[in-house]
Amino acid sequence: MSEVERLKERVLRREYTVGVIGLGYVGLPLVLRFGEVGFPVIGFDIDRAKVDQLNAGTSYIQHVAGPRVQALIAAKRFEATADLRRLGEADAVIICVPTPLTQHRDPDLRYVEKTADAVAATLRRNQLVCLESTTYPGTTDEIVLPRLRAGGLRVGEDFFLAFSPEREDPGNTQFETATIPKVVGGTTPACLDLATTLYGEAIKKVVPVASTRVAEATKILENVYRAVNIALVNELKIAFERMDINVWDVIEAAKTKPFGFQPFYPGPGLGGHCIPIDPFYLTWKAREYGVATRFIELAGEINSGMPAYVIHKLMDALNDRGKALKGARILVLGAAYKKDTDDSRESPGLEIMDELVHKGAAVDYSDPHLPRLPVVRRHQIDRASVVLTEESVKRYDAVLLVTDHSRFPYELIHRSATLIVDSRNAFRARGFDGPHVIPA
Ligand SMILES: NC(=O)c1ccc[n+]([C@@H]2O[C@H](COP(=O)([O-])OP(=O)(O)OC[C@H]3O[C@@H](n4cnc5c(N)ncnc54)[C@H](O)[C@@H]3O)[C@@H](O)[C@H]2O)c1
Repeated sequence: MSEVERLKERVLRREYTVGVIGLGYVGLPLVLRFGEVGFPVIGFDIDRAKVDQLNAGTSYIQHVAGPRVQALIAAKRFEATADLRRLGEADAVIICVPTPLTQHRDPDLRYVEKTADAVAATLRRNQLVCLESTTYPGTTDEIVLPRLRAGGLRVGEDFFLAFSPEREDPGNTQFETATIPKVVGGTTPACLDLATTLYGEAIKKVVPVASTRVAEATKILENVYRAVNIALVNELKIAFERMDINVWDVIEAAKTKPFGFQPFYPGPGLGGHCIPIDPFYLTWKAREYGVATRFIELAGEINSGMPAYVIHKLMDALNDRGKALKGARILVLGAAYKKDTDDSRESPGLEIMDELVHKGAAVDYSDPHLPRLPVVRRHQIDRASVVLTEESVKRYDAVLLVTDHSRFPYELIHRSATLIVDSRNAFRARGFDGPHVIPA
């Protein structure tokens, strides 16, 4: 029996420890899934607060339930640690660390590099290493592989390497980690064989592809597709509005076509860890090959102009009522970038609030998922979420809806607000219209 066959048998018998590095939105659901199908799991994170919280059985991500963490701890199948020297204890090491952009919008691979260095420092025979962080095609080969090889072990023989993109969709109740098909590419056929066997035990459908580069490019295609289509409807929204056509009505009608059309919706700008960032990983890499990614650049330009467009609509609406934005009291509804989540990363809501403050407005916000705004490098607004009552809503000159959370009391807001500027068609879609509801 070959070594890979022996390892696969251990996977099937659950005598195989899975290590996950980076216990965030991607890593934590993966930990839970592997643990719940019977694998011993070790979670690694440099953030000690997260490690302590998990070991105490609490979850810091709203849609990940604490009791699931507690059940795994009780079954002695899960432990979190900040000690990366223990990476050698895991048979498989799955890397889920952030891949942001630098200030100049180039890929910032420092987290991946540091993690690959830590894995290399403890790499032992038969370990499987799998990168899940979204990145440009070539990262596994060019950044991770050389580090792992440096100690003399041979890939596909002594250790195994794969790339498998994460497709987590926070807040989506229709799909979960187990039911989202998983694309996997291996550095060698043996790497692919072992990685698909492991993922196949936790995820219903595994899709093997020709190489790690194909797997990396698949994720980029998925995100570029979203970024470009969102830009398209954002542009159409502006064009149709001049023609006095409501873009939402048009999308609803177009959606009835049973083939060849998939609806995308306009909004106040892109947010989150993926869509505003990942396409630019490809743009950067394509430059190395002398290729310009014009669709990506154009989509970025249109989408990044949306917060300013929404603010402009707000200023026009105030102006029509004889008010200037400067000195106006504005309540922003929604600070998370996405409906029904608590994730405020890259949120257009924060950007809009910053700009409104900069323009002299008195700004508050309300978000049932974010009781306090996170103060990060780019956004320094320190505020607590306003509780929505008739009295509190009445105090504002305008309410600006950025995120259409289900938990907002739409009827109360519609009844109490002087002016509503709605960037998500949330009020009209619920039947709350009128001259004081302005689409943006
Ligand atoms: N959030 C999503 O919906 C989503 C979806 C698909 C893909 N992704 C991709 O998955 C990757 C992770 O994203 P996320 O949303 O889970 O990020 P996150 O910020 O929620 O979590 C990343 C975690 O990694 C930890 N970390 C950073 N450096 C580390 C290191 N050197 N060693 C150990 N831990 C380290 C951080 O403390 C953090 O807890 C990114 O590449 C992202 O693009 C995210």
